[in-house]
Amino acid sequence: MLSKTMQAALNEQIKIEAESSQVYLAMASWAEIQPGIDNITAFFYRHSDEERFHMLKLIHFVNERGGFATVPALEQPILTYPSIKHAFKELLKHEIMVSEHINKLVDISLSEKDFATHNFLQWYVAEQIEEEALARTLNDKLELIGDEKSGLYLFNQDILTVATEVEGE
Ligand code: FEO
Repeated sequence: MLSKTMQAALNEQIKIEAESSQVYLAMASWAEIQPGIDNITAFFYRHSDEERFHMLKLIHFVNERGGFATVPALEQPILTYPSIKHAFKELLKHEIMVSEHINKLVDISLSEKDFATHNFLQWYVAEQIEEEALARTLNDKLELIGDEKSGLYLFNQDILTVATEVEGE
């Protein structure tokens, strides 16, 4: 059985994952109307789906442990970005924020002596290491490219391969 504190903290994380899914969905929709970046668009859509999966995994866990997972109200995310580079900077910032929240959750699970939740959260700890690594790799590549259109063409060409390599999918 989840403690009230643990349940509230997990429900807060459900909201963060739902918001993440929305943020990346908005990035995907914005990218989709830019010419010539179909793989970048696909990357954002896929990332949005992954966040929804993170959210669902938490919802099932809370409900299976005798709690009640609450589906949150969500704010509208940022809809447009000045450039692809800005979007990826935002993605990295967002993932760092998510990691901080996961770390706090782990801390709460220990203070609540909830070892089942602590064990469950290790999947998210590992996932965040991968997500941050991927976001950093993509930002580094974009830094190297600068403002060159040909670079962005190549970035679009290999983004899905890079994502698969870093995430080990
Ligand atoms: Fe579910 Fe990208 O954090």
